[in-house]
Amino acid sequence: MAIANRDMNKVVENDTPIHDWYRFVLSFPPHLVRDYCDRLGVGPADRVLDPFCGTGTVLVECKKLGISSIGIEAHPMSAFASAVKVDWLPGPDDLLSHATRVAAAAERSVAAVAGGCEPFLLRRRICC
Ligand SMILES: C[S@@+](CC[C@H](N)C(=O)[O-])C[C@H]1O[C@@H](n2cnc3c(N)ncnc32)[C@H](O)[C@@H]1O
Repeated sequence: MAIANRDMNKVVENDTPIHDWYRFVLSFPPHLVRDYCDRLGVGPADRVLDPFCGTGTVLVECKKLGISSIGIEAHPMSAFASAVKVDWLPGPDDLLSHATRVAAAAERSVAAVAGGCEPFLLRRRICC
């Protein structure tokens, strides 16, 4: 897929579900990883090391290309995002079911604290 020069540093729409569900300004776009693997001739016989893997852009794109990779990341949140993004074991139905249970539990917590579905966080912030 050809990418216009003005969009070179952006995450393309097809990549947003896996690479754009959190805010991390340091990441580079996934299509660059694919492009570099292609240009450098990196393939399934190789192994890629990303010693500063951030939220795992390189790891995910390598996995999609069938290339094994290793990532190292110092920041716990980024390391967590990377680990989640390369764990493809949970199926979509299981994820949806789990997310639904988490949302229901969060709603119950908010209702218990705020006495209804008012914006609990906003009220707390105003009170501080
Ligand atoms: C530019 S970001 C990497 C972004 C990543 N390529 C991506 O697209 O998500 C650099 C990362 O290196 C991590 N880092 C910095 N020093 C490090 C160190 N000594 N060991 C491991 N990770 C380190 C930072 O926490 C940061 O997440």
